[in-house]
Amino acid sequence: MAMAGAANGGGPNGGNKVISLRLQYFCVMAAVVVAVMVLSLAFVSPVAMGAVRQNLGSVVATARGGDAGVASGVGEVATAAAEREREREREPPVVLFNFGDSNSDTGGVAAAGGIRIMPPEGRTYFHHPTGRLSDGRVIIDFICESLNTHELNPYLKSIGSDYSNGVNFAMAGSTVSHGVSPYSLNVQVDQFVYFKHRSLELFERGLKGPVNKEGFENALYMMDIGHNDVAGVMHTPSDKWDEKFREIVGEIKDAIRILYDNGARKFWIHGTGALGCLPALVVQEKGKHDAHGCLAKYNKAAQDFNRKLSDVCDELRLHLKNTTVVFTDMFAIKYDFVANHTKYGIKWPLMVCCGNGGPPYNFKPGKFGCDDLCEPGSKVLSWDGVHFTDFGSGLAAKLATSGEYSKPKVKLASLINGGSKKSSYS
Ligand SMILES: *[C@@H]1O[C@H](CO)[C@@H](O)[C@H](O)[C@H]1NC(C)=O
Ligand SMILES: *[C@@H]1O[C@H](CO)[C@@H](O)[C@H](O)[C@H]1NC(C)=O
Repeated sequence: MAMAGAANGGGPNGGNKVISLRLQYFCVMAAVVVAVMVLSLAFVSPVAMGAVRQNLGSVVATARGGDAGVASGVGEVATAAAEREREREREPPVVLFNFGDSNSDTGGVAAAGGIRIMPPEGRTYFHHPTGRLSDGRVIIDFICESLNTHELNPYLKSIGSDYSNGVNFAMAGSTVSHGVSPYSLNVQVDQFVYFKHRSLELFERGLKGPVNKEGFENALYMMDIGHNDVAGVMHTPSDKWDEKFREIVGEIKDAIRILYDNGARKFWIHGTGALGCLPALVVQEKGKHDAHGCLAKYNKAAQDFNRKLSDVCDELRLHLKNTTVVFTDMFAIKYDFVANHTKYGIKWPLMVCCGNGGPPYNFKPGKFGCDDLCEPGSKVLSWDGVHFTDFGSGLAAKLATSGEYSKPKVKLASLINGGSKKSSYS
């Protein structure tokens, strides 16, 4: 509540005014606190949802730096673009459509809300804030890199977007559940269908759209969503959790079916992460801690949810003709980072990079900003208590794309390469 209140203090027309609400507050707010409050309350009250929307719009941060470091060498950029164009003609392009929440938002909420994000967001990789809730890349960025394609642009980003390799519909704070967040999964899917129609329409008129018919057919359809739903469910009576998870997973299934009916054939679905190991929850929520210091009930919930989601993927794999449906267990990946942290060179697995108070958590409830910012290059998993650092996302992406934690055990790249769709995945 306090956080939402702080956001309201900003007024509608902040301009360059400094407002004490910085992005990490917003992140926590968007991804957990609001979702939790809204999920547990907003089923009840549309007014509460209105307030959340307003907050999304009224959060303004100071205007330092902004879009510094745009194209430095124009010639280089042109050559790279020409090279890319030639490559594109040689083989079918990599096309991805991603649906998700803050874990894969590459600037969607910032664009939609007109939110000017401040450093140190983006400090490690892009060297300026990009709208990602991270010091650098998020998992989808590493996935794009591993497939030799440029980063996926947010659907709502009006400046400088290139959708020739697909679209990112992910929005921070999004839920699977309808109407709980402004950009719930069903809305993201509607946006995809709209995008597809408009793009194909351009080709029909003899113009060049961003993605053609083959592009849509061969594309990879990715989902990484459910964290906010599960976190919200945790604030409802526990005898209803199972049923609620079933409903949420049912909505993911509906979304996959709608995409299938619109021609999607290759699905890559991420389960939810180890929610019980998010420092913001470990510090603030009550409950038993497990052997690794994580909240047992949150982790159990995440695992229950993932089991159901994996079952749905099994079912869809059986019933949808000519499809590949891969489920990747992000819980197992992210829990391993905590449980076996020394293996990854991590000293404090539950510590936040941009926070306050130092180890073991560097997170003080109610205190925002990063008086204690970890050294660049530190092996710290959590950026702000909820979202991963560039380091953490890089580790997670490596394991996620390896297929080791997937069902079936296939490498992500194998879904893209060599036009293998018909031969190996029919
Ligand atoms: C499955 O693929 C085959 C071969 O490409 C095609 O003939 C058939 O129509 C496809 N079936 C469906 C349901 O898409
Ligand atoms: C920790 O690592 C060991 C050995 O690689 C593995 O068997 C175990 O499953 C890991 N623990 C978790 C929680 O991932």
